[in-house]
Amino acid sequence: MSDTFTQVADVVAAVEDHWAIQPKVGIILGSGLGGLADRIADSVTIDYTALPHLPRSTAIGHAGRLVCGMLAGVPVVAMQGRFHAYEGHSIHQVAFPVRVMHALGASTLVVSNAAGGLNPMYQVGDIMVIDDHLNLMLRNPLVGENDPRLGPRWPDMSAPYDRQLASLAQQVARRNDFICHRGVYVGMLGPTYETRAEYRMVRRIGGDVVGMSTVPEVIVAVQLGMRVLGLSTVTNACSPDQLGETSGEQVIAAAAGASEKLMTIVEGVLAGMSNVE
Ligand code: HPA
Repeated sequence: MSDTFTQVADVVAAVEDHWAIQPKVGIILGSGLGGLADRIADSVTIDYTALPHLPRSTAIGHAGRLVCGMLAGVPVVAMQGRFHAYEGHSIHQVAFPVRVMHALGASTLVVSNAAGGLNPMYQVGDIMVIDDHLNLMLRNPLVGENDPRLGPRWPDMSAPYDRQLASLAQQVARRNDFICHRGVYVGMLGPTYETRAEYRMVRRIGGDVVGMSTVPEVIVAVQLGMRVLGLSTVTNACSPDQLGETSGEQVIAAAAGASEKLMTIVEGVLAGMSNVE
């Protein structure tokens, strides 16, 4: 099997066969948020099946294609459907598309997800800008031999999420009159939702929301030196003492219901990005 660097180059060449523009921003659309890709203008869509080295996307609410085009006047490459470790993909495969987006030219990553709300102030449908994360997936996409062409062996993680982009996201929400929290995302392996004891634990150790994605992609983005904006949609309330049942369908419906707010933030941030660059 070829090394990661070569595999990234293979995918880049395949994408460039379809779309000759260099993206500035890579976007990962989480569960129920794939509809945001419809807002991308002059779009070229490439199924993952048409690209080498990509695993197949199996999670519900995830389409499985790249949508390339213009959003708020900025060239973007968006993943409509991401890979999760719980699908059986290696943590390296999960984060691999971020390497591709970066190699295509993207210097910023916008990553979104559906997440359970641990913070009692959060309501279903609220958006949270990710300030920091806790990696409880107990695996890391940088484990293994380090190819220096891909980044440093021991990346700094003191500020994985770009503060200027986070502030900009909050300003956009404020301007549009909706709530946007800032907090800590806890990444769990899944695919089970948490028990009451687990929700209690992740709240106690500092989590505001909990989900099954994002952390691997962000780690790789940080290693590559990308600026990262992370956005969570609160899809279910995780109050250990009065916990209702949670289902995938409910999570996807709640994420889809809030996707307009998420899109407003993403478009507003892209439009305002030139001012913070
Ligand atoms: N836990 C983990 N992942 C999730 C949740 C949750 O409660 N809600 C949406 N994704």
